[in-house]
Amino acid sequence: MKNYKLTVLKGDGIGPEIVDEAIKALDKAADKFGFSVEYDYQLLGGAAIDATGVPLPEETVNSCKAADSVILGAVGGPKWDKEPGNNRPEAGLLGIRKALGLYANLRPAVIFAPLRGASPLKPEIIGESLDIMVVRELTGGIYFGDRGTEERDGVKSAFDTERYSVPEIERIARVAFDMAQKRDKRLTSVDKANVLDSSRLWRATVDRIAKEYPEVQVSHLYVDNTAMQLVRDPGQFDVILTSNMFGDILSDEASMISGSIGMLASASLGGSGFGLYEPIHGSAPDIAGQDAANPLATILSIAMLLRYSLDEPEAAKAIEDAVAKALTKARTRDIYTEGCGAKLVGCGEMGDIVASLI
Ligand code: NAD
Ligand code: IPM
Ligand code: MN
Repeated sequence: MKNYKLTVLKGDGIGPEIVDEAIKALDKAADKFGFSVEYDYQLLGGAAIDATGVPLPEETVNSCKAADSVILGAVGGPKWDKEPGNNRPEAGLLGIRKALGLYANLRPAVIFAPLRGASPLKPEIIGESLDIMVVRELTGGIYFGDRGTEERDGVKSAFDTERYSVPEIERIARVAFDMAQKRDKRLTSVDKANVLDSSRLWRATVDRIAKEYPEVQVSHLYVDNTAMQLVRDPGQFDVILTSNMFGDILSDEASMISGSIGMLASASLGGSGFGLYEPIHGSAPDIAGQDAANPLATILSIAMLLRYSLDEPEAAKAIEDAVAKALTKARTRDIYTEGCGAKLVGCGEMGDIVASLI
């Protein structure tokens, strides 16, 4: 029997609640499809600061490097907001992405049919179906550029630098083009080339890589226009290729089209089979500990893990099908609407229902 070794980073806030439900789904899929999973629980973020003083302990990095892949909840919260920038929970998250070389973040915004009424967009804007793949560069750009604060003549200032090298743009562009080639063959590269040098280099590099993919139809949009187009006519998008910060912002926006940020999964990859799987949302401190969080983004991240890293596509499909079925029976608060026909449940019950349907 195949045995997979996974490192699990529950993190902070709702992190432990949603990860527990995701593990339930994975264990059920393992039973059903005949493989086993071994978990190594490690600390990241605020939980790691409390226990060790730093958001990314060396032991966590070593465990991740020795694993087949990583499952992550979310990090951060008001308790640690006063930490210096390089010791915040979020610095731990950026650190683990960088340490593992995970430069490609796939964020699929799909709408499950039962949730059409939960989307804030009108049915005629959503159209028949919606399936957008945001490909976000994850280890470069303004998140990792030179930064600092300084004081001159009594005036304080701070700066962060957006910088991209040609090889960084080339490798993320290839991920997005490969993805588009397997999907509807439409790729929109999003930048701010009317203002930023880094975006002009991005655009020129994407155009050069595009020549390797003659079947893929490429367009370029400015990020401000993209933000508007996503709610005006989301069906125009297939694959969106963009930088670290623009991808962060646009994927939160795209998540609402699918009904809730609690639905959007992600895979962070580095060109090998290894990946880190996490929902795109944060630690939701406002609902932590209330059994109110939607665990489906994390459960759907497990489906991505099974598909992209563990090569268990049938188990991945079984989880996605179970989620689709579960949505007709039960919903957490964020996706519950009056008259939807499903009952209002907490995080734990939602996870139980999904697991029972796998
Ligand atoms: P957030 O995503 O945590 O929450 C935004 C809103 O969405 C909140 O109202 C929250 O209740 C709701 N929400 C999020 N996930 C939900 C879920 N699964 N089910 C139901 N509702 C959900 O963003 P924020 O409030 O801006 O950030 C809170 C903390 O999380 C900050 O410390 C931030 O840095 C951190 N954060 C971490 C990650 C990560 O670990 N990947 C991602 C984003 C934010
Ligand atoms: C995300 C989060 C992180 C990011 C933060 C917490 C560092 O918002 O995963 O989307 O901006 O990448
Ligand atoms: Mn984000």
